[in-house]
Amino acid sequence: MRKPFIAGNWKMNNTVEESLKFAATLAVELKATGQIDVAIAPPFTALYSLGVAFTDTEFDLAAQNIFWEDSGAYTAEISGVFLKEVGCKYAIVGHSERRQYFGETDETVNKRAHAALKHDLIPILCVGETLEHREAGKTWNVIESQLEGGLKGIDLSSTTDFVIAYEPVWAIGTGKTASTAQAEEVHGLIRNYLNEASGKEIADRTRILYGGSVKPSNSRELLVQPNIDGALVGGAALDVVQFADIIRNAH
Ligand code: PGA
Repeated sequence: MRKPFIAGNWKMNNTVEESLKFAATLAVELKATGQIDVAIAPPFTALYSLGVAFTDTEFDLAAQNIFWEDSGAYTAEISGVFLKEVGCKYAIVGHSERRQYFGETDETVNKRAHAALKHDLIPILCVGETLEHREAGKTWNVIESQLEGGLKGIDLSSTTDFVIAYEPVWAIGTGKTASTAQAEEVHGLIRNYLNEASGKEIADRTRILYGGSVKPSNSRELLVQPNIDGALVGGAALDVVQFADIIRNAH
């Protein structure tokens, strides 16, 4: 029903040359992706070249962020027009590193999600609690308000696809993964939220990815959970063999 989706977020890693080397090795490692959607979000500087390298492959391109205006005096921002031109299919919005280090709020994340949809890019909306939130028993309050803020004014019934990524901040890049039970619990709550907010059909079709120290050794266990539809992979997506193994484990 929901096609598994594995997305690699390279963050601020990989030059154009390194990206092309990765793409060439990935094509050898994985002849076909099978029934899995696979995307890579490289740094903006490598989007074009990676897009060219991905032509005639089953791998898709994702942007790590998107700005809400199409053009103008917005130094260092990237518009959906540019992302579409280089062949992006997805745009990550609201990654916790953007929220933590660059002042993104639910309001700006929401504007970015709207911009993605306007340009026919599929948003990957990231939500997740910090360790402090979890220990204070506030996990769901935080995620619910991030969903409410991030999805404001978005009619999920009018989009063909929309992806949500649950990424507990304490599990990102720390080597600590949420237990499968912890992850599945939140994914189930997100699914319920979608059901209540937008109805069963949308809740059933929306893919919810897990992110936070996903690697080959834990991905299978996470991906078999009923409400975990894929993974947003950071560190392990920099290693082509590990990334290919995670994709294989999603079958
Ligand atoms: P990680 O990053 O896999 O390195 O924990 C995940 C992410 O930030 O998307």
